[in-house]
Amino acid sequence: MDSILVRGNGPLSGQIPIAGAKNACLALMPATLLSEEPLTLTNAPRLSDIRTMTQLLASLGAEVTALQDGKVLATSCHGEINPVADYDIVRKMRASNLVLGPLLARLGHAVVSLPGGCAIGARPMDIHIDALTALGAEIELKEGYLHATARGGLKGAVHEMRFASVGATENFLMAAVLAKGTSVLKNAAREPEIVDLARCLRAMGAQIEGEGTSDITIQGVDRLHGATHPVVTDRIELGTYMLAPAICGGEVECLGGRIDLVASFCEKLDAAGISVEETARGIKVKRKNGGIRAVDVVTEPFPGFPTDLQAQMMALLCTAEGTSVLEERIFENRFMHAPELARMGARIEVHGGVAKVHGVARLKGARVMATDLRASVSLILAGLAAEGETVVSRVYHLDRGYERVEEKLRAVGAHIERVKGE
Ligand code: EPU
Repeated sequence: MDSILVRGNGPLSGQIPIAGAKNACLALMPATLLSEEPLTLTNAPRLSDIRTMTQLLASLGAEVTALQDGKVLATSCHGEINPVADYDIVRKMRASNLVLGPLLARLGHAVVSLPGGCAIGARPMDIHIDALTALGAEIELKEGYLHATARGGLKGAVHEMRFASVGATENFLMAAVLAKGTSVLKNAAREPEIVDLARCLRAMGAQIEGEGTSDITIQGVDRLHGATHPVVTDRIELGTYMLAPAICGGEVECLGGRIDLVASFCEKLDAAGISVEETARGIKVKRKNGGIRAVDVVTEPFPGFPTDLQAQMMALLCTAEGTSVLEERIFENRFMHAPELARMGARIEVHGGVAKVHGVARLKGARVMATDLRASVSLILAGLAAEGETVVSRVYHLDRGYERVEEKLRAVGAHIERVKGE
């Protein structure tokens, strides 16, 4: 298994291009199951999670061809479709559950393995099941698989989710676009990835209004056609790289970045003493005069502070002046990076969903282990701020969500390299 070696760094300077969003692309790809005509996605990120989704879609009978070194995904689903999403693929990646809504809409039935637990939390599927049941599906759990059927097809309905789940909103949208009649989803998730999916579905002929708000209205249509759609910028990759100059000093411009994608995060950076400026090409970040100040952070659904940036923000706050309180409200077990950061000299107390970070003057390099995707990149960021050398092992998590991380950070002057494992 590969590891990443990071050496404590001086100021960074230059530009980092931000890729298309992993979590948008993982929802857009299954939309190909909704039409016989081709769907082409441009600005796709080159990640192992995208390859896993490609594998899953191929197992269902869709074709996915990576063009232009993976930046363009040409997809189509015109032949026979297999309605079974197998455990062996689904267990690798939870986002596999996003084929449930489209399979049900296109075929009237689907058999999708339950993904099982995951390091950051239990992550059940009840909100997805309730949302699809509201559209007339009958869903039963048999031997670890959800068996979903919609006798006579899906029917439009008004449904309010108990929590604004991102994945359940995506499944509901992809099911309702081909349902008979009008559907309204209340308490829908408002993430930019939902807006991106709605835009793509609209380009395919769907009738959707209200994406980006809590109420989304969908008028079902008989069929969808082909389309070409650019994947929205990855706001989590953006936020991650915005933290690099905040931690090391210097000035970095994140190309393609937009403040509206990371507004609540930018407010916290500002309070921590980091200057963020929108430019013609992206977002420029540098420290204001002086050091990092402690700030309190609560993770919430969009437009709140994203849970997917909590670990990276913690890496910044390890060396802030004062004590920061981070409250994780989306996942019940998302502080696994804290004990690893402590190995680097951070002072962090975790009590349930709350972490208190007492700033120290300097972190020290150490051997640490990546436990999940966002945790792994937070350890790299911390390593950039530490004295000496940090080795982050188990970086396969990192490759799920960050393309060419060493290349991007090296281009702005970071000392980072990949050490190939057996
Ligand atoms: N939840 C339920 N029941 C459900 C669905 C969700 O209890 O049926 C709970 C989850 O257990 C969790 C919370 O609701 O505690 C939020 O889950 P949500 O469904 O909103 O998340 P998701 O769709 O599974 C997506 C991203 C995650 C990101 C979350 C929250 C994708 C592929 N994944 O997951 O991304 O953290 O939204 O914003 O879009 C990552 O990229 O590192 C990552 C984990």
